[in-house]
Amino acid sequence: MTSYPRKLLIFVQKVLIKLGLRPLESSHYLETSKWHLDFIAHLVRVLKPQKYLEIGIYRAGLINRLIPLIPEITAVDVDPDSGKFIDSSNNVKFVNLDSQKFWKTSPDSYYDLIFIDGNHSREAVLVDFQGALRSIKAEGIILLHDTYPVDKEATNPARCDTGYLAIEMLGHKTNEFEMMTIPVHPGLTLVRKRARQVPWSES
Ligand SMILES: C[S@@+](CC[C@H](N)C(=O)[O-])C[C@H]1O[C@@H](n2cnc3c(N)ncnc32)[C@H](O)[C@@H]1O
Repeated sequence: MTSYPRKLLIFVQKVLIKLGLRPLESSHYLETSKWHLDFIAHLVRVLKPQKYLEIGIYRAGLINRLIPLIPEITAVDVDPDSGKFIDSSNNVKFVNLDSQKFWKTSPDSYYDLIFIDGNHSREAVLVDFQGALRSIKAEGIILLHDTYPVDKEATNPARCDTGYLAIEMLGHKTNEFEMMTIPVHPGLTLVRKRARQVPWSES
């Protein structure tokens, strides 16, 4: 849901752009930080995952867009209120747990696509990534949000936090997966679990 001040900032930005003036930095951030929604919805149309997991759903903005596209969705959030925003549908299961607890219950090699967008601290992202790597199928895709903060100010815990440091660390380990980050604030990292470039090759 868009709050009144945020709507106002976006409106002011649009007026400034129409007048040929430089947009306000803060409203520019608000306006451009949601590009991942269209990106992931398109990726889902291409990949056609059967089983999708999202860690951190907030107001179900993305989940509700994916409900018509994926047969089985698991939505995890530590905030019990998040579940109330999910559109009524029998292909979605809401799990009200901290992701650290959720991973203890999640099956191995089960999901085709996992989106990690919960606690964005370096430590939490490392835990979520290890859980996701175990629960994703071979050739499955893991996405991590807020991994390319535009500047130091954007590493504030209320914005991207320090998850980008986890990506920097994980990126050096390439045996089990390949990883790349779309370098546009706030950043989206794509990971494919794989043993070799194509699954049918011998070595
Ligand atoms: C940035 S929002 C998610 C936005 C959503 N993925 C989207 O794209 O519309 C982050 C969410 O993560 C949840 N969250 C934070 N820490 C968590 C944790 N440890 N386990 C599960 N959910 C968590 C918060 O309650 C919040 O709803």
